[in-house]
Amino acid sequence: MYFEFTEEQLMIQEAAREFAQTELKPGVIERDEHQKFPAEQIKKLGELGFLGMMVPEAHGGSGMDTISYVLAMEELSKIDASASVVVSVNNSLVCFGLEKYGTEAQKQKYLVPLAKGEKIGAFCLSEPEAGSDATSQRTIAIDMGDHYLLNGVKNWITNGSSASTYIVMAQTDAAKRHNGINALIVERGMPGFTVGAKENKLGIRGSDTHSLMFTDVKVPKENRIGEEGFGFKFAMSTLDGGRIGIASQALGIASGAYELALQYSKERKAFGKTIADLQATQFKLADMATEIEAARLLCLKAAWLKDKGLPYAQASSMAKLFASEVAMRVTIEAVQIHGGYGFVKEYHVERLMRDAKITQIYEGTSEIQRIVISREVLK
Ligand code: CAA
Repeated sequence: MYFEFTEEQLMIQEAAREFAQTELKPGVIERDEHQKFPAEQIKKLGELGFLGMMVPEAHGGSGMDTISYVLAMEELSKIDASASVVVSVNNSLVCFGLEKYGTEAQKQKYLVPLAKGEKIGAFCLSEPEAGSDATSQRTIAIDMGDHYLLNGVKNWITNGSSASTYIVMAQTDAAKRHNGINALIVERGMPGFTVGAKENKLGIRGSDTHSLMFTDVKVPKENRIGEEGFGFKFAMSTLDGGRIGIASQALGIASGAYELALQYSKERKAFGKTIADLQATQFKLADMATEIEAARLLCLKAAWLKDKGLPYAQASSMAKLFASEVAMRVTIEAVQIHGGYGFVKEYHVERLMRDAKITQIYEGTSEIQRIVISREVLK
């Protein structure tokens, strides 16, 4: 067992850190305030290869490993979780799914531009009445021979209005329950596909989250991913990797808030000394540092298993469960250490605290992660 990164992994970490400081930090408060999508920054991340990190170069990606992905996600999320969720969804829910299960024609047409960052993707599973209970899909895709006729509504879709390529889960044969669900590639601009209003959110306010409406959208048969009825397993298997991305995002939110609190505690004076000299602060910092390190190791372990081709569903759920709970606890403490300053926007920690909350909800709530983990340990 080695606890060392390769030179390449360290270079990617450094590049992501540099990008976060120079490109994401300026304007992050304003984007949060006005719910402005970081379009320019995402374009640059695409040019640098951060949107198709684990896709082989032959399909337009950067051919990096999942460890590098964790390192990059942590650095980007320290500063701007609204930008990093775009990176996570595009990499692990859209590109990974297409690379693993798509046909060569689908890869050439859809994956290559997504991996190069020329286009952005979205993953459409959640519905108004199907969030955690993901098998209860109400969106229907009627088999019309050479195409499916798609009707329904998807909710809380990340990259809702900025994406060009959408992977949509829909029920074709209700009698078969989850084995009747298909995953279909839907293009922006297909007649009958409309993007609903943007959600006004507590956190990750820069990311664009929308409902999507499908009315008699004709989706060619060649746009189905995998065999007929494979859609639910496609979604679950893709989410196994997605949860590594969100776990790393949570890790980054926590470590970003911790670094700010650590710095502030050495500067702020009270009772004739810095607050870092007070045991009340020292114990908070000790707990924050310990929990963040544990979360980081869980993220890296899940990434390592994935890179080795070993089962990683349980590890990624553990990483997501733990890292997201750590993100919430650490960001609350970071605000507390900052006192009144922590409650105002200029000090960044209140935003990180608001951003942390979504990591306990999307790509499977903490309760869903506990279902996945307990089923594995009870097997
Ligand atoms: N990989 C492959 N197949 C899997 C799987 C996995 N990880 N997990 C389950 N399956 C298979 C099962 O083997 C089963 O197949 P068989 O019937 O052939 O045995 C089938 O899928 C159904 O599985 P379950 O019986 O376990 O189904 P369930 O109804 O009990 O649900 C669940 C399981 C874990 C609760 C699942 O519904 C779930 O993960 N829910 C949460 C959904 C979620 O994470 N949504 C996130 C939305 S995307 C998002 O948030 C993106 C974003 O914006 C950032």
